[in-house]
Amino acid sequence: MNAPQDRAQFTAMTEGTQEDWRLISGHFMQFASKLPDRVLTHLKLLDGDYGGFPVDRLEHSLQTATRAHRDGRDEAYVVMALLHDIGDTLGSYNHPEIGAAMLRPFVSEEVHWIANTHGVFQGYYFFHYIGGDRDLRENYRGHPHFEACAEFCEKYDQAAFDPHYESAPLAFFEPMVGRVMSRPINSIYAKAAAEAAV
Ligand SMILES: [Fe+2]
Ligand SMILES: [Fe+2]
Repeated sequence: MNAPQDRAQFTAMTEGTQEDWRLISGHFMQFASKLPDRVLTHLKLLDGDYGGFPVDRLEHSLQTATRAHRDGRDEAYVVMALLHDIGDTLGSYNHPEIGAAMLRPFVSEEVHWIANTHGVFQGYYFFHYIGGDRDLRENYRGHPHFEACAEFCEKYDQAAFDPHYESAPLAFFEPMVGRVMSRPINSIYAKAAAEAAV
């Protein structure tokens, strides 16, 4: 909790001043720099959450990321693989969109699309067992990122339920999350972040 003199003076933004926003921008940068820590703390909520699967959701996340890393994927892709299901806790009915939104400032359009759409593509492996249409992904056939998303699910996501697989620990990925999530490339706040970093 910051002291009163370390807070903006306005009670409505219409009264805001340059000094107020200089002060707020400083706080924003400090807060934003801790984003990777908050993300990792939230990811740990998946620990012990099996939901009936052979491995818990944290192990599934680690295994997906480990498989992507060992297959030579770049850091942003591996971080996406690690965080692709982080929305499970808050987005029970739309979890891909939660992780994708968190990743969006830091990854390419393709990697964001994979995260955002993986739920439909992952459904190819099970929707028909729960009364759905496994071919729902066909709605995206012809999209420039169709094959990339199908590949993510086939090689890494649907394959990451093996209790005997030797996944790398979360600590292995922490520096990657730190690097990727400290470099916004696509955000309406990126300019402020870049200027404050000078
Ligand atoms: Fe998922
Ligand atoms: Fe998954």
